[in-house]
This record gives sequence, C-alpha cells and structure tokens, in this order.
Amino acid sequence: MSAETGNEAPSLGLLFQELVQHGVFEAALFALLLAAALSILWYTIRTGVPPMPSNPFARRAMFRLIPEDARPATIYELGCGWGGIAFELAARFPDARVVAIELSPLPWLVCHIRRLLQPRRNLEIRRADFLKADLADADLLLCYLMVAPMRTLERKLSADLRPGAVVIANAFALPGWEAEETEVVSEAMHANIYRYRVPG
Ligand SMILES: C[S@@+](CC[C@H](N)C(=O)[O-])C[C@H]1O[C@@H](n2cnc3c(N)ncnc32)[C@H](O)[C@@H]1O
Repeated sequence: MSAETGNEAPSLGLLFQELVQHGVFEAALFALLLAAALSILWYTIRTGVPPMPSNPFARRAMFRLIPEDARPATIYELGCGWGGIAFELAARFPDARVVAIELSPLPWLVCHIRRLLQPRRNLEIRRADFLKADLADADLLLCYLMVAPMRTLERKLSADLRPGAVVIANAFALPGWEAEETEVVSEAMHANIYRYRVPG
C-alpha cells in the first residue's frame, strides 16, 4: 500500500506469520507432499517400476561388470531414478555422453536439482519413456527394472542395439538373452547382476 492510503506495506515476515496463523502454509505443504506422493504412485503403476535406487553393493557390482577396456562414447541409464548411477557414470567416463532417461517427474526433477550442486557437463537428463527412445547409438546401457518391463525392453534392445553394445542389468534378467557374465551380490539379498553383449 502507498503512504497515500495511510496503510503500511506488510513485510514478508509478517505475511509469512499471517499465512502460518491461518493454516495456509501447512495446507500448501500438505498439498505439495500429497501431489508428490500421488505422482510417484501414478508413475510406478504406469511403468511397473518404483523409483527405488539400486542397493549400494549391487551398484558397485554393476560398475565392476563394466568391461575394463570399455571406452564407451554413449552410455544410457534406462530409468535413472534419483540419479545415483547416472552421476557416477558421468564422473567415471568424462569422455562419454551419458544419457539418463526417467519418466517419473519427481525423480527427474531431483536429478536436475542435483546437477546444480554436482555439475556434470557430459550428463544429459531426459524426461522420456525409454521404450520410445532411439537407443541405436548406445555402447553401454544400465538398468534396474522388474520382470515384466525387462521382457518389453528385451524386444526393444534386440531391435535397436548394434553389435558389441553392452547391457548391465541389476536383479532382473533379459529372459531370452544369454549373459556373458553374472555376479551374485550376497549383501543385496543375493541379487544377480548380469552383463550381456550384443553378438556381431
Ligand atoms: C528401480 S528404479 C532404478 C533407479 C536407478 N536406475 C538405480 O538403479 O538406482 C527404476 C526407474 O525406472 C523408471 N522407469 C521405468 N520404466 C521406465 C520407462 N519406460 N521410461 C523411463 N523411465 C522408466 C522408474 O520411474 C524408476 O524411477
């Protein structure tokens, strides 16, 4: 308000106090948390996979299974969740282009916020359905999904990937492919980590 009206403009602090007193702040916070929970639930139902990060031991095994002589130019993480693996891939392979694909908006948003704090110039974070993405240029792909999505993914990878491409899968196998290497991670409820290579 201007001085002409005789009223003082409320300070931000006072405005905040008013909102808290009338319960507006709590209501907004509750609405925000509810929307976040519903968003996670909706995308879990839609994709058939919750945004649960890989167990740290399983994650280490996934990195161990990347061939030592690998010099990938393009790496995909299919369903990157909150970004733990994608950020590590980008740091370990600074000369590669790392493409992290995530459909669920909240984890995708967290990845973007995370990149403000942990810059990675070679990391591309995409909000997309990886089943509709063109994966033909992939040299290395990593994923942690579930039984049914792995079946669908297998058809997609069989159609898209070029000979020599390597796929590392946590816990769930590509049912019709033969793994060239498997590691059992006892600290992660004996989960299998699979490495596949497209023959050529
Ligand atoms: C179990 S989490 C794994 C997260 C991360 N990759 C890790 O291992 O820590 C799987 C993620 O894949 C995402 N996802 C599943 N299907 C997808 C699809 N078709 N396109 C994009 N993201 C998908 C889910 O939203 C979920 O966040």
